[in-house]
Amino acid sequence: MNIIICGAPGSGKGTQAGLIAQHYHLKRITLGDILREEVKRGTQLGEEIKKYMSKGELVPDDIVKEVIEKNIERDNFILDGYPRNIKQAKTLEKIFEEENINLDYFIYLDVSKEEIIKRLSMRRICKKCGANYHLENMPPKVPNVCDNCGGDLFQRMDDTLEVIQRRWEVFSKDTQPLIDYYRAIGKLVIVDGNRTPQEVFNNIKCIVNDGKYIKL
Ligand code: AP5
Repeated sequence: MNIIICGAPGSGKGTQAGLIAQHYHLKRITLGDILREEVKRGTQLGEEIKKYMSKGELVPDDIVKEVIEKNIERDNFILDGYPRNIKQAKTLEKIFEEENINLDYFIYLDVSKEEIIKRLSMRRICKKCGANYHLENMPPKVPNVCDNCGGDLFQRMDDTLEVIQRRWEVFSKDTQPLIDYYRAIGKLVIVDGNRTPQEVFNNIKCIVNDGKYIKL
């Protein structure tokens, strides 16, 4: 089974990709994480990527295309964060054709802007193990210290209010055409992402298990 998961920044793509990958034994390919790793390594490419990520802009297509080509699997994957616009969708379609890859679902997590801002502006992440916290809904027991491993918590460079706003604008501009594109090829599944992570996941499981598409 091959799945793409899409949605606004903070819509829960990473959270659901993790649950789906574990449940269906899929390889998880998270473009944002791969790009952040490159930034962390401090390479020349990482410096270039950082310029875009820190402002909430998309990293240029030629860079992300190369990353996708290197990381894509033939079967059994969940792809999180790619494609984000029609140009990327067409690039991916070409890769799928060349590699004879079949796409089963394009899952779109639908979440309101208010909810996105709440989730992202209060998100904190453990430097050591990557665990996620929310200052209000899921705070660590000791401020700024990870419950799991004792690591320090940090705020992602693109989780400031100003950059969240820009990420939302970039997302809004490109998303409708992307949704239309996957609807036209019969792969679109729209899921209400405003619910709890477990409820969202249960809905996804229903759709995937029953092979039912929700066409809106
Ligand atoms: P990326 O890392 O993909 O960031 P994003 O799309 O902005 O999404 P996030 O990782 O912030 O959120 P998410 O939807 O995964 O939600 P999560 O599960 O973490 O991309 C970052 C940057 O990389 C881009 O801005 C761009 O510069 C570059 N980039 C990436 N892909 C690119 C591409 N294709 N082309 C060009 N450039 C690209 O959840 C968020 C928070 O909410 C967490 O704290 C979580 O615990 C909480 N949460 C999750 N689900 C729920 C729920 N149901 N209820 C309550 N809280 C929830």
